[in-house]
Amino acid sequence: MSNAIIYACSHRRGGNSDRAVELLKEGVQQAGGEADVMHVRNFDIMPCIACGFCDKSPQRQGQERCVLGEKDQAWELFRPMFTAKVVLFASPIYFYHLPSMFKTWIDRGQQFWKARLDKESWIDNLPKRTAHTVFIAGQPTGNKLFEGSRLTLKYFVKNFNMELAEPLSFRGVDGPNDLTKQAELEKHVIALGRQAWEEAD
Ligand SMILES: Cc1cc2nc3c(=O)[nH]c(=O)nc-3n(C[C@H](O)[C@H](O)[C@H](O)COP(=O)(O)O)c2cc1C
Repeated sequence: MSNAIIYACSHRRGGNSDRAVELLKEGVQQAGGEADVMHVRNFDIMPCIACGFCDKSPQRQGQERCVLGEKDQAWELFRPMFTAKVVLFASPIYFYHLPSMFKTWIDRGQQFWKARLDKESWIDNLPKRTAHTVFIAGQPTGNKLFEGSRLTLKYFVKNFNMELAEPLSFRGVDGPNDLTKQAELEKHVIALGRQAWEEAD
């Protein structure tokens, strides 16, 4: 297993999630690790078209299992999910859920769910790992503000034999520089990056 991978999942360049990604990376480095960063918004991802191809193709592995596999950049984002020692996400909440570009990529993970059902070794034998996430929401209230996003990520990372740790969730962080203004919150993000690497190492 190689470096940590950190997925930056906001559509907004230079906003709170991008800042959280920098801080997570800092934390990983403090613990002696290295982290690669991928901004989901920079990748061209086509939506799952629910064609059932992945369900009918048990012999096909990896990229070949999805009818769209070579038509877009979804697999560039998927590859580190197979090789990274630890996986981290930083995402804003949009309408009580994950941003659409991120969710579009996640939906393409249906091919892995099918492969795992077939107990195919290329996905079934991945080492057990932990995934971590920072969620950032503008509103201060809402009992279930993070719940849909948490469940979606939980079942997405399960495809890769990962458990989702309890998310680090921030409320009332709305303007693009709001996280930067709150040193205490920033410390929590760095600590998460550090802890994620220490536990995985
Ligand atoms: C399309 C859209 C939908 C949003 N929906 C919510 C929401 O349902 N609840 C909430 O608390 N904040 C919502 N927000 C606010 C963002 O979560 C907030 O501004 C956050 O800081 C954005 O993170 P970023 O800077 O990483 O993009 C929404 C923002 C956008 C652009």
